[in-house]
This record gives sequence, C-alpha cells and structure tokens, in this order.
Amino acid sequence: MKKRFCGKNVLITGGLGFIGSNLAIRLVDSGANVTLLDAMLPDYGGNLFNVEPIRNKVNINYGDIRDDVAMQYLVKDKDYIFHLAGQVCHIKSLTDPFPDIDINIKGTAVLMEACKKNNKKAIVIYTGTRGQYGPATKLPVDEEVLPRPKGIYEISNLAAEHIVKVYNDIHGVKSVMLRLTNIYGPRAQMKHDRYGVVNWFIRQVIDGEPVKVFGDGKILRDFLYVDDTVDALMMSAVSSDAIGEIFNVGVDKPTSFLELAETITTVAKDGKWEFAPFSPERRAQEPGNFYSDISKIKKTIGWCPKTSLTDGIAKTVDYYRKYKQYYW
Ligand SMILES: NC(=O)c1ccc[n+]([C@@H]2O[C@H](COP(=O)([O-])OP(=O)(O)OC[C@H]3O[C@@H](n4cnc5c(N)ncnc54)[C@H](O)[C@@H]3O)[C@@H](O)[C@H]2O)c1
Repeated sequence: MKKRFCGKNVLITGGLGFIGSNLAIRLVDSGANVTLLDAMLPDYGGNLFNVEPIRNKVNINYGDIRDDVAMQYLVKDKDYIFHLAGQVCHIKSLTDPFPDIDINIKGTAVLMEACKKNNKKAIVIYTGTRGQYGPATKLPVDEEVLPRPKGIYEISNLAAEHIVKVYNDIHGVKSVMLRLTNIYGPRAQMKHDRYGVVNWFIRQVIDGEPVKVFGDGKILRDFLYVDDTVDALMMSAVSSDAIGEIFNVGVDKPTSFLELAETITTVAKDGKWEFAPFSPERRAQEPGNFYSDISKIKKTIGWCPKTSLTDGIAKTVDYYRKYKQYYW
C-alpha cells in the first residue's frame, strides 16, 4: 500500500490532531507530499509536538476549514483529502452546540464545495463516529442499523456524513465515509477527561491516581488502536470498491470498561482502579453497550485490526511516559 501514496499530494484537515498526525507520519513514510491544515483552536486536539518526527517534511497551514477562500486554494492538486478536522468532544456539545454545527456541518460543506469547484479528482475520506448510531438496538452494530444519534456532536457527524455522500453521489466528488469507534494511542490530547476514555485512564495511571470506572464497569465497547485506524484510512482511500460507501471502523471483540481498567493497570505495572458514579451529563449521553460489526470493511477492502488491546496499551503508556510534558 505504501507505493500507492508515493509522490501523491495529500491534504489532512485536522492534521495536527490525534489521528491526523499519526496518519501524516505514515504518509510521509510512504513518500507522499503532505499538507496539514489545522486551526489549532484552544482546548481541541491540535499539538505541534504530534508531528515532531516529520516537522520539516510536511507543509503546515494554520487555517480553518470554514474559510472558503483558503479551502478553494488548498484542495487544488490534491490526490487524497483526509477530512479529520472537527469539534470532537461530545460532552462539550451538551453545553454549546454551535461549534459542532459550525465546524462539523458547515466546515464539511465548505470543504466539499471547494472540491466540487476546484478538484473533482481528489478522493475524500471522511471520519464520522460510531456515536451516530445512538443506543444500539442489536449487537454488534452494522451499517444497516438506522442511526438515532443522542447528542448534537453525533447529529453533526451524521449530517456531515450525509453532506459528503451527496457530493459523492450527485456532484462526482469521490468519497469514502468511515464511522470510527473509540480510538486510542499516542498523540491524543490528555488535557482534560472529556475526550478518549482509554487515554484518560492511562493518564490517571501515569499521574498515580486511581482509574475511575463509572457505574458497575460492565458496559461494553470496542477500542481500536490508532495505527490500525490509520491502516483503515489509507486502505479505504486506495480501494475503488470503497468509493461512495459507509464503513464501520472498529473491533469486533468487545471489552468492558472494567476489563479496560484492569488491562491498563496490569500492562502499566502500576496504578489501581475504583468505581465512581456517572456525572449527570455523562449519564445523559451514555448509549450503553456498543461494538462494531466490521464485516463490511473486512469484505470490501480487506481491513481488520491487528493490534491487541494489551499491545496497543503498552505502546501508548510508553509514549506518554516519555513525552507527557507535551500533553498534560
Ligand atoms: N478519536 C476518536 O476516538 C474518534 C472517534 C470517532 C470519530 N473521530 C473523528 O475523527 C476525527 C479526528 O479526531 P481526533 O481524535 O484526531 O481529534 P483531534 O481533536 O485530536 O483532532 C482534530 C483536529 O481538528 C482541528 N480543528 C478543529 N476545528 C478546526 C477547524 N475549524 N479548522 C481546522 N482545523 C480544525 C483541531 O485543532 C484538531 O487538531 C474527528 O472528526 C472525530 O470526530 C474520532
């Protein structure tokens, strides 16, 4: 797959964030010419240290996806556009819905319109969330399940996905739409607990605090390591069978929050966990058990996760023990 990106021009929106920066490192290693667009909004996931290993090998543009003039220019000549910029905190969307509406919905429309006007040859990969489904009506959850999103963040991702699909189907901007599960690994921001749960548990262990497991810890989720996520992004970009399709990107083996806390404390050889009550806002948005059916993406493009939870956690703990001063 590396060869497919060699010499290609790639734009990553949200490229200084968690998934975008891990993707950028792999693309540079594959010989791609990579441009990162990131508005570096305070409290979001952008961090220049994320691209330290490739700092001099990428173009960084501190722009905003809502800026249509900038986007008209940036999409030109790109072979692949990975659209990862967004307001990504579902808890924040409970108190202020407008960044989700403005960035995730309008920003996506600005990007797709720029592609329609200036570059219909680019392939766009959009990353939505498993949260779009809302509470699971059956397990595992496949792409045929009717989405019933529970919050504005989730609604904004679903709306953005529909926008991308319309530009694919009606305007000929070839696109792939991914619904990501809970992603964890190096380069995610750890400044607050309103973000990825695996990374937050790891921070608690590194800080010497007990890992707080909400409720009875029995709720099931699937947790996917970021390198596997990057594989899914790259493989779906180069597969002609993926164009116009929606795929779950997750793990078909669920893990409970309690197992997760136990695995982290065991792998880190440190720390302990304790039960804690849900806060009212977390309780309000908790959709219950969820894990992804990934048969469609397996069958269509041959992707499946390779990293065990234990290995992924070990790599993540090592990274933050080394570099925590850049993330706390
Ligand atoms: N991390 C996960 O567990 C997860 C799960 C499901 C879906 N996703 C989706 O994947 C994508 C990437 O997530 P992530 O975890 O890397 O998040 P992240 O917050 O680390 O990265 C997003 C980046 O987008 C940038 N950004 C935000 N608004 C912008 C704007 N208006 N213009 C330009 N840049 C802007 C931020 O500065 C940040 O660097 C998001 O769309 C998110 O919804 C992530």
